Amino acid sequence: MANSRSMAINDKLGQTERRDSWWIEPLLSGLGLGLFGIYATWAAFQGTNFEWGPYLSPFYSPHINAPWFPLSPAFLILPFPLLFRATCYYYRKAYYRAYFMSPPGCAVGPAQKGGTYTGETKFPFILQNLHRYFFYFAAIFILILTYDALLAFNFDGRFGIGVGTLIMVANVIFLGLYTFSCHSWRHIVGGKEDCFSCDKMSKLKHGAWSRVSIINENHMRWAWISLFTVGFTDLYIRLVASGVINDLRIL
Ligand code: FES
Repeated sequence: MANSRSMAINDKLGQTERRDSWWIEPLLSGLGLGLFGIYATWAAFQGTNFEWGPYLSPFYSPHINAPWFPLSPAFLILPFPLLFRATCYYYRKAYYRAYFMSPPGCAVGPAQKGGTYTGETKFPFILQNLHRYFFYFAAIFILILTYDALLAFNFDGRFGIGVGTLIMVANVIFLGLYTFSCHSWRHIVGGKEDCFSCDKMSKLKHGAWSRVSIINENHMRWAWISLFTVGFTDLYIRLVASGVINDLRIL
């Protein structure tokens, strides 16, 4: 009886008995993801000002020379992190709510009514299950960006630290926290275990799983911070490379 009543109340888009500001989260998520998408697309189309001195934008890393490719090399690189983020368990929730509104929040009326709910068991959403494979590509990118961050200390063969160096280091740290707090990684290091104390290997796995679980608890936070830092790193290098601002040398 209670169920049929709440179904009637939540029958129309946005209808709910909730009295909290449930709409703020999907609104901010939609704005944040939309702004990042617009900026990243714009930056990828530029094909210039993505490097300066020892700095290289993460949108254009690894450095690819592809004269045969009609667009900027960023379009050869960005699909990998994009697919990793687009299939992330957290981002799925965020954009299902913000854009598909199915539903926009718990106990809130959805945009679509009727039909059969198939979740992620049918095409195209079944492809979300490829996330675990995109994780491997994302992990390779962390290695590449770590290498870039180390190179950012090399100013014409001399050790140095600029504001750009610090930004690139911070970026790879937050991207690493996001990537290695992934639920797929947590499953890789500690999943499929029936017993965590039966032998040495299972104890080791339990230790690794426990550590990943610590950063996994804040996966949403790392998702947003790293989205900001990766965009900001590109913007900073772009502004320095185009002469709008000067890179401040700290050392
Ligand atoms: S679950 Fe978010 S990156 Fe894997």
